[in-house]
Amino acid sequence: MNEGEVIAIKRFSEDLFLLELFLKEETSFKPGQFAMVETPGRPLMRPFSIFQLEGKTLCFFIRVKGPGTSSLLALKSGKKLKLLLPLGKPYPEPESEGEVWLFAGGIGIASLFPLGLLLVKKGFKAKLFWGAKSASHMPFPLLVKLQNYGLELSLATEDGSMGQKGLLEDIIPSTITAKTAYICGPLEMIKRIFFKFLNVPKAYFSLEEKMACGVGACRSCVLWAEEIKTICKEGPVFEKEDLLKWQVLRQP
Ligand SMILES: Cc1cc2nc3c(=O)[nH]c(=O)nc-3n(C[C@H](O)[C@H](O)[C@H](O)COP(=O)(O)OP(=O)(O)OC[C@H]3O[C@@H](n4cnc5c(N)ncnc54)[C@H](O)[C@@H]3O)c2cc1C
Ligand code: FES
Repeated sequence: MNEGEVIAIKRFSEDLFLLELFLKEETSFKPGQFAMVETPGRPLMRPFSIFQLEGKTLCFFIRVKGPGTSSLLALKSGKKLKLLLPLGKPYPEPESEGEVWLFAGGIGIASLFPLGLLLVKKGFKAKLFWGAKSASHMPFPLLVKLQNYGLELSLATEDGSMGQKGLLEDIIPSTITAKTAYICGPLEMIKRIFFKFLNVPKAYFSLEEKMACGVGACRSCVLWAEEIKTICKEGPVFEKEDLLKWQVLRQP
């Protein structure tokens, strides 16, 4: 198990922040992988996408949801947290050349942000569609970094304070011309937009579920019971065809 010492909490809005940690042991990751993070005062660790890793400095981009994430926002620098990382399967790289489109619902940007930067570095033309509640949920430094890297941005906010007024699904083009698409966001949103990707040659979805162990042992995130498939170990990234085969998106 690794350990991270809090360097800083960088707060963007009431419920959105970057948690910056200095790792005890060096590690590496691929976009789409996540970490289980100790949440002080809570028995279970919580899963967060690895947002950025430079040397031993690790960052998570977090939205406050309940007791675990609130306890992280209240941390002071110097506090040490137990960490399990890197976990899960990353986003596979595109198999063919051409445009790559990324679709982020809300905090789903946390796993797609490093992927977008990496793909552009590797020479792919990448476009990011991002839907969030309001402009305060799209921190300016993140938008600037994405744009400076050369990602084309298409934005939507529920209150219209940034980009088009509406949801992510409102800015998804009726024809997706990209050969590869990557999608991350709440399961309810993925269920609503899944059909839009049926004709995309390669579409990868990152799923969220409550997790307890993060390593496939406790079965709290079973996706398909016929042959045990867990989101933490076999995922969190799944190919469109697997989700169709397992009828995951039909489950209540
Ligand atoms: C792979 C993955 C990556 C993610 N990446 C990010 C990210 O980068 N940024 C981000 O903000 N969010 C991310 N999330 C979502 C994040 O993990 C949740 O928002 C967070 O765990 C919420 O914890 P909470 O205690 O604040 O709220 P809640 O989970 O809403 O807490 C509500 C209640 O649920 C209970 N609970 C929580 N987990 C379990 C469990 N496993 N079993 C039983 N009860 C449980 C809590 O004890 C609490 O009482 C990710 C999730 C996954 C699966
Ligand atoms: S969280 Fe334990 S099996 Fe996935």
